[in-house]
Amino acid sequence: MAMGYSEKVMDHFINPRNVGELEHPDGVGEVGNAKCGDIMKVYLRVENGVLTDVKFKTFGCASAIATSSMATELIKGHPIGEALALTNKAVVEALDGLPPVKLHCSVLAEEAVKAAIKDYYDRHQVPYDPALFADLDEDPHGDLVEE
Ligand code: FES
Repeated sequence: MAMGYSEKVMDHFINPRNVGELEHPDGVGEVGNAKCGDIMKVYLRVENGVLTDVKFKTFGCASAIATSSMATELIKGHPIGEALALTNKAVVEALDGLPPVKLHCSVLAEEAVKAAIKDYYDRHQVPYDPALFADLDEDPHGDLVEE
């Protein structure tokens, strides 16, 4: 195990699932962590309220890549409501944990998924409670997003 990473983290870092982009996606979310400069982008395909396909591109550390990979695996094939409820804690648990100093990296995955769903709602004029997305930074290249 490198630097206290679980086997699952190493697996999803070395062999990430769902890498890439979708042509004509129904929603796209991009978030960043201004402290480390890492950026994550998530693409969604939505059919009848279900995420039939999900892809991501992450320019970031091993933990950011592993959490994006796991997050996309956890929401693919599931209803939007379930994806909205995805927490970084659930992603970390599915990876059998992250070293404490890398926990902030998993926040990017949760936020990128939420940002992509918000984009889907906006594009398709689906009404929603803005409080759902209150934590999102609209400008991933701007101010600090998360610790
Ligand atoms: Fe930037 Fe991990 S160090 S997301």
